[in-house]
Formats: sequence, C-alpha cells, structure tokens
Amino acid sequence: MDLNDKYVLLTGASGGIGQEIALALEVKGARLILVARDKEKLEQIRYSMAKPDRHDVLAADLLTAQGREVVNSYAKEQLRKNKQISALINNAGSNQFQFLAQRSAESIEREMQLNLMTPIALSQSALGWLKRPGVILNIGSTLGSIGYPGYTAYCASKAGLHRFSEALDRELDGAAIRVLYLAPRTTETELNSPRVVELNQKLGNRSDSPQVVAEHVVQMLEQETAAKWIGWPEKLFARINQVFPRLVSGSIRKQQETIHYFINHSSN
Ligand SMILES: NC(=O)c1ccc[n+]([C@@H]2O[C@H](COP(=O)([O-])OP(=O)(O)OC[C@H]3O[C@@H](n4cnc5c(N)ncnc54)[C@H](OP(=O)(O)O)[C@@H]3O)[C@@H](O)[C@H]2O)c1
Repeated sequence: MDLNDKYVLLTGASGGIGQEIALALEVKGARLILVARDKEKLEQIRYSMAKPDRHDVLAADLLTAQGREVVNSYAKEQLRKNKQISALINNAGSNQFQFLAQRSAESIEREMQLNLMTPIALSQSALGWLKRPGVILNIGSTLGSIGYPGYTAYCASKAGLHRFSEALDRELDGAAIRVLYLAPRTTETELNSPRVVELNQKLGNRSDSPQVVAEHVVQMLEQETAAKWIGWPEKLFARINQVFPRLVSGSIRKQQETIHYFINHSSN
C-alpha cells in the first residue's frame, strides 16, 4: 500500500509504540485517526506532529461496546464524507505479569477483551467501512508464539490474534483486504513495569525501541507482508517452539527460579 494521503485508524495511539507508529506514518504522508481513552494525551501527540491539521483524535474505551461503536460510527462518517479509511491498526493492548492463580477473573477478561476480542470486533466492523484495497494490521507479540510463565492470558490472547489474522487474511483472499500480523519482542514502553524490565535485564533478554517497531509497521503496510516477528533470537525461538516445544520448556525451566522471585518478591 502506498501510504501517501491514506487515512489510517490507529488504536493505542497514545502508548509507547502507538506514538512512534503515528510519527512514522506521518512521514509517509498518511492521515492518522488516533484512538485511545485519554483525549488530552491524544491531542498532545497530534500537536507534536508536523502537520496536526491532517490528523484527528478519537477518545474511546475499547473495552466497551459503546467505545467500539464510537470508532465504528466515526469510520462510517468518514465513508460518507469521502474520506474512507484505508488501514486499521489494532495496536491497543495490555498485560499483567502475574501467575494465573493470583489474578482476578475480571482482569483476565479485560486482557482477553482488549487484546483479542476488540481487534476481532473492530476488524469485523471494518469489513463494512474499510476502503478497498485496504489493510488491517494486528499488533501481536513474541509471546503469541511462546507460552511463558506469568503471561498465560497475554500469550493466549496474542496467539489467538495471530490465528485470527491468518484465518481472516485467507478468508478475504481476492476481496482486496489484507490482514497482517506483527509480533514485536520486548519493547521499551510503559507496558512493562519496572520489575519486568529488571527481570528482562537479569535474564539477558534483548529489547527494542518503539521506533524499531514503528519502522516494521511501515514496511509491513507498504509491502503487505502477511506476518513478521521482530528480533533475533526471538523469531528463532518462536519457530523452535512450534517444532520442538520441549527444548523451549527446558530453557524456560532454567529461568523458573528467577521468574518466581520477580513475581512473588519484587515490589514494583
Ligand atoms: N511493550 C512491549 O514490550 C510489547 C512487546 C510486544 C508487543 N507489544 C504490543 O504492542 C502494543 C502496544 O503496546 P505498548 O507497549 O505501546 O503499550 P502502552 O505503552 O501501555 O500503550 C497502550 C495503549 O493502549 C491504550 N489502551 C489501553 N487500554 C485501552 C482501552 N481500554 N481502550 C482504548 N485504548 C486503550 C492506551 O491508551 P489509554 O490508556 O489512553 O486508553 C495506550 O495508547 C500492544 O498490543 C502490546 O501488546 C508490546
């Protein structure tokens, strides 16, 4: 897709990765619709962009049907105004690093809703308003390919998002809408609490800046790459886990003591 002058609706636009995606897409000439709950923060981001007037903000709580309807109505209005949206980026997401036994049922539901059910619902409504040719890009995670202790619900939601993207892309074959999936590894944003950052340092896990993720987003949209995993050796582990999961279980077993320590004893 040539991004110049295309309307792109981006959820999670006020987050660490979302902000960088917005800036990178602006450089390519795209017109952004920035979506998140905090309108003030979205406006600050819009005014930090080179041409704020070319972009718009939309406050919506995507955990609620009402919030998703705000997005849907806005997109349909764009269609009526001949400003049809060409790309939807499902980037809003959240996680909690905790053992399943310690979590409330509500927090698990919210995580599954925001990370999986919301992108499915927005993709479904986008079939009614997305311009053709159009693109839906779902932001997943390495943890969608590797089950990891402390992230059970998050792994499940991102694995689901991966399969959803693959299935819908195949379902829409020939319908001029591509559905893409990007799996970043650990990225330096506020999604990761200080104890997760410390754990990653202790385990020697590499991380990327949000700018790196944004560059991949631009490339994927331009080249319409079906799926991509960021980072080495994470993309290799993702493959090994499919074929030889016991090997990956073996290396995670060696990390268990450290993981338990950070979940149970770290205060932040
Ligand atoms: N950071 C990482 O290590 C990492 C690694 C792999 C994949 N990812 C994925 O990358 C995506 C972006 O993550 P990030 O690191 O940029 O996270 P972040 O900095 O925590 O940003 C999360 C974004 O989601 C929005 N959001 C949260 N709850 C929402 C709700 N109920 N309704 C609407 N918007 C909501 C937030 O805005 P408001 O609070 O204003 O609503 C914010 O814009 C996520 O899907 C995440 O799973 C992140």
